[in-house]
Amino acid sequence: MEGLIALVNRIQRACTALGDHGGDNALPTLWEALPSVVVVGGQSSGKSSVLESIVGRDFLPRGSGIVTRRPLVLQLNKTERGPDYAEFMHLPKKRFTDFAAVRKEISDETDRITGRTKQISPVPIHLSIYSPNVVNLTLIDLPGLTKVAVEGQPESIVADIENMVRLYVDKPNSLILAISPANQDIATSDAIKLAREVDPTGERTFGVLTKLDLMDKGTNAVDTLEGRAYRLKYPWIGVVNRSQADINKSVDMMAARRREREYFATSPDYKHLASRMGSEYLGQMLSKHLESVIKTRIPGILTLVNKTIDELESELASLGRPIATEPGAQLYSIMELCRAFDQVFKEHLDGIRPGGEKIYGVFDNQFPAALKKLQLDRYLSIQNVRKVINEADGYQPHLIAPEQGYRRLIECSLTLIRKPAEAVVDAVHFILKDLVRKAVGETQELRQFPTLQAEVGAAAIQSLERYRDESKKTSLRLVDMENSYLTVEFFRKLPQEAEKGGNPGASSIDRYGEGHLKRIGANVLSYVNMICDTLRNSIPKAVVYCQVREAKRTLLDVFFAELGKRDGKQLARLLDEDPAVMQRRIACSRRLELYRNARSEIESVVWSK
Ligand SMILES: *[C@@H]1O[C@H](CO)[C@@H](O)[C@H](O)[C@H]1NC(C)=O
Ligand SMILES: *[C@@H]1O[C@H](CO)[C@@H](O)[C@H](O)[C@H]1NC(C)=O
Ligand SMILES: *[C@@H]1O[C@H](CO)[C@@H](O)[C@H](O)[C@H]1NC(C)=O
Ligand SMILES: *[C@@H]1O[C@H](CO)[C@@H](O)[C@H](O)[C@H]1NC(C)=O
Ligand SMILES: *[C@@H]1O[C@H](CO)[C@@H](O)[C@H](O)[C@H]1NC(C)=O
Repeated sequence: MEGLIALVNRIQRACTALGDHGGDNALPTLWEALPSVVVVGGQSSGKSSVLESIVGRDFLPRGSGIVTRRPLVLQLNKTERGPDYAEFMHLPKKRFTDFAAVRKEISDETDRITGRTKQISPVPIHLSIYSPNVVNLTLIDLPGLTKVAVEGQPESIVADIENMVRLYVDKPNSLILAISPANQDIATSDAIKLAREVDPTGERTFGVLTKLDLMDKGTNAVDTLEGRAYRLKYPWIGVVNRSQADINKSVDMMAARRREREYFATSPDYKHLASRMGSEYLGQMLSKHLESVIKTRIPGILTLVNKTIDELESELASLGRPIATEPGAQLYSIMELCRAFDQVFKEHLDGIRPGGEKIYGVFDNQFPAALKKLQLDRYLSIQNVRKVINEADGYQPHLIAPEQGYRRLIECSLTLIRKPAEAVVDAVHFILKDLVRKAVGETQELRQFPTLQAEVGAAAIQSLERYRDESKKTSLRLVDMENSYLTVEFFRKLPQEAEKGGNPGASSIDRYGEGHLKRIGANVLSYVNMICDTLRNSIPKAVVYCQVREAKRTLLDVFFAELGKRDGKQLARLLDEDPAVMQRRIACSRRLELYRNARSEIESVVWSK
């Protein structure tokens, strides 16, 4: 079991090294899940003295105002023999044996982050103290709770401190070491007030009563120490304030501990509680307790670590890979991104994603409906047929059959088909454009690069416009071809039917009669309908050939050709990913590293037992 505090210490240091100190909702935090002993107390509660007594050294900055302005992670490491020394995580090579220098370094390091503003900062300072006189224990000292800012400190500091302390004590895995002075009503203790809010049943709060020796004559703290004034699951612990003379001499903390023991052993008020009083006992009790809490929490932490690793991995996957820096690699990345887009676009056409079926809708519904809407039968009404035939004859009426009239009627009818034919091309173009837009949005990999995304989209749409022009030419050509040479066979068959009406040439009365004009109209209509049937099949073929098939084959060909001409700088500009995404990726991968390391640390300790 003895490796557990050391395990959490290592993970704690890794958290700070990788920027996890809680309070940041944008990223998962391991820091907040780690069991820890959090030391809270009001400004004059004697909090620093308690910590120094547990350590057996004077090392904390003293002074008026709020001297503790960053969390201090105090890792105590019991060694076989002295001398005592201290190390800071931010000064890994330096071993401090002079504890006055430790005090100065804490104060300097606080200022390094908070500057002269005297603000508080959530970035912890890690201090390890190695000594045969300590127990293995880690404590997190937090700024003292206060009600007023002192001169030179911003007004907001009062609330800032409370928020920071709250963040630490709120976490279910934290043990709260609540320090209150005995010469003050326990109900007004800042530490107890806060602890009561976050831990109303007192299951993870350890009450410490300081300055027992400074109480008014004739009063004592037995009510509190025996748990009657404020009930906690674990018994209260009392400590005595060191005399100012002891502090001045700054010597022999061991003697002070001894004096504390004697004080309790001989005090008529506290003699019966002596076995669980004093800072030495406090340290040992906390050490044992912290170990057992870590032990019970490890499975839960491991589950959390696993879950978070999964979440971070999938977020990183969705953020995409980091971008290449070499022009060659950049070109390769761009081609890959384009291919990913192309793939999504094709999936839309091929029915793996929706949208492609709309093209068939154009061929199957829209185009036939548009042809029907031309109302060619109306165009071929008797009046119009007569008018066109007469116009075509000019000054010389036709003799046998109105050849010119026929041709003009057919020509005009077929010309009407050009419009629906063009409309098919435009409708398919519109659908393809929409699919390009969809594919641009849906290509996960491209989201990372807004510039490239926009350029790929624009290039694809330009290609579609070229295909549209080509497709229009081809489709109209199909219509015009029908115009340029008629199917003679069709008309050869007709006269036989016409002959039933009488001998052509025998009579000219019939030739301009309504029946005859009607028959001509019907003949032309049935010819044009035959052509429409043909075009209903051939125009979709032309459209697919010129637009859909080309889009599948060559959508980005022009873009690729131009890409080859760009220099490194231009390529880099295409890959200028959103800085927020870049930062998020860095943050997530650092956090992932933290969690992976923590998992292997935890597993190595768990398996070795
Ligand atoms: C104490 O320090 C040693 C050497 O640095 C380290 O291996 C060990 O894990 C530390 N123990 C604790 C409880 O931090
Ligand atoms: C002990 O108590 C006195 C009087 O309250 C105070 O001035 C002094 O700072 C205390 N000593 C420590 C080490 O806290
Ligand atoms: C304290 O930690 C050290 C190093 O991790 C270990 O060797 C030692 O046994 C521990 N002591 C106790 C009392 O747990
Ligand atoms: C402690 O030192 C301060 C000055 O550093 C002095 O004013 C005070 O009288 C000293 N107190 C004792 C009890 O020695
Ligand atoms: C965590 O993940 C590791 C590796 O994937 C697995 O071996 C282990 O059983 C998991 N532990 C928990 C508590 O889910």
